[in-house]
Amino acid sequence: MLGGDVGLELGLRVAESLKAALDVDIAPAETLIRPAGTGRDADFQCNVAMSLGKRLGRPPREIVDAIVATLDTDMIEYAEAAGPGFVNITLNDDWLAAQTARLLGDDRLGAPAADIPIRYAIDYGSPNVAKEMHVGHLRSSIIGDAVVRLLDFAGHEVVRHNHLGDWGTPFGMLIEHLVDEGHAATDGHSISDLNGFYQAARKKFDADQEFADRARSRVVALQGGDEATLVLWRELVAESERHFAKVYELLGVKLGPQDYYGESFYNPYLADTVAELEAKGLTEISEGAVCVFPPGFVNREGDRLPLIVRKTDGGYGYASTDLATVRYWTRDRGVTELLYVVGSPQAQHFAMVFRACESAGWLDAEHRATHIGFGSILGEDGKPLRTRAGVTVKLVDLLREAIDRAALVVAARSDLSGADRARIARAVGIGAVKYADLCADREKDYSFDWDRMLALEGNTSVYLQYANARVLSVIARAGWAVGPDTPVHLSVAAERALALKLLQFPAVLSVATTEFAPHKLCTYLYETAATFSNFYESCPILKAPTDEVRRSRLALAQLTSRVLTQSLALLGIEAPARM
Ligand code: ARG
Repeated sequence: MLGGDVGLELGLRVAESLKAALDVDIAPAETLIRPAGTGRDADFQCNVAMSLGKRLGRPPREIVDAIVATLDTDMIEYAEAAGPGFVNITLNDDWLAAQTARLLGDDRLGAPAADIPIRYAIDYGSPNVAKEMHVGHLRSSIIGDAVVRLLDFAGHEVVRHNHLGDWGTPFGMLIEHLVDEGHAATDGHSISDLNGFYQAARKKFDADQEFADRARSRVVALQGGDEATLVLWRELVAESERHFAKVYELLGVKLGPQDYYGESFYNPYLADTVAELEAKGLTEISEGAVCVFPPGFVNREGDRLPLIVRKTDGGYGYASTDLATVRYWTRDRGVTELLYVVGSPQAQHFAMVFRACESAGWLDAEHRATHIGFGSILGEDGKPLRTRAGVTVKLVDLLREAIDRAALVVAARSDLSGADRARIARAVGIGAVKYADLCADREKDYSFDWDRMLALEGNTSVYLQYANARVLSVIARAGWAVGPDTPVHLSVAAERALALKLLQFPAVLSVATTEFAPHKLCTYLYETAATFSNFYESCPILKAPTDEVRRSRLALAQLTSRVLTQSLALLGIEAPARM
């Protein structure tokens, strides 16, 4: 089968049939095979006739008839015309059963690995140093982590980089404040001190012109490598990194010190980056600053929008660093796909940066950049999530609360003890926060709602975790191990529906991966768990009529658990075997 994708395999058969009947060459993917909606009396629908009819100048019905007349393979039970332009297709039970049984011996559950791995570099997490990480960085970490896992599983090469905000204007202000307050660099401030410290520095920066000027020259000293300044700066960075590590550990995302490529990392590349832009004639001086005006970007008044690549005072900013970043990863590291998991408010920034990089020749048909944007997390009041005092919610507090709340949910249901229960509370709590973030279209805002994310019914991770644990306990009770050669029989509708669902895994995974859309995998998981539950209600497993049926049903149960566990793992969520 074509990489285990039933729809694509069917497309291949339809393409063969079109070649035979009408001598048309068409790629399997262009045959527009879609799973038929629930309640339909077919498994798949083929929608190619309308578009192909137009292309060939023939009535769609003729194409439909040609497909129906020639589509005759072991794979298909029957194909019939539906309306003027569609073909309804029902798969053959034995074929379906054989494909399902094949999954038992396939540790990738039918999902193909890339023939030619692509080199990705993904920017995610990316919090700011000397500030407590907040929920705004939560989404980037969670979505980015899922994208990394999906691309990894697809067989690509993925380099993670955490674009820490560890450079630039805020540091001038922070270091200058540190000097004013007379702190020694080795005071060992904790991060919560730094939060208050940041706010004090900010206030002074906004109110006091002389301080603001000093802060700005301090930035230049920092960027120029002044050693005394660097000592203070390193202190701030180290403290923050300790804090980030704690959050990543708690969250279980794959970001570590080896992935830190903060803004400071690109400092040595900034001058060359700007020089290259200048040499290519892409810069203009505007109000004393060196700017690039990427074509096509204007404000409401119709004025062209600049990317400031070198400020009037000689300093470099956020945009300069991002230009240098693209240049570094594509030119020095041979990366061909750059991904940025950053909130949607920065969409225009990235569009402008990418456009400028195209002009500079750092991005082209072989070197592409994609902004994977996302909406905000809203609180109960519909506004971006904050605590009552109006201070941004701290991520560590939020995650600890998730685990505490999950512990209550677990305690009410579990007969497990102490350590096991704590481990499961963590898997459930962190899973709930992640799943709530991943299960809806990332471009949209979502409301943070503890009760909903920890609900035992509905599209939640805890529902899926319990469903999986239940499947595994049935298998355990059977006391018989499902082998890779266990024959599968699909004689009851609910068995067949479950098999069809399980066989959709490769296609769903492929879409979720290529579209950076983990929510599509979530929807599928929820449907799979629901399909299993229908199956379980109507098809006794342990008390099946015969041994053969019992084994076949156990095989379906085992595949269900494998699909759930594998998919949750790809979302960065644990699936405890016992709960
Ligand atoms: N540190 C930035 C922020 O908190 C996000 C950085 C995103 N990555 C980038 N290459 N600009 O808003």
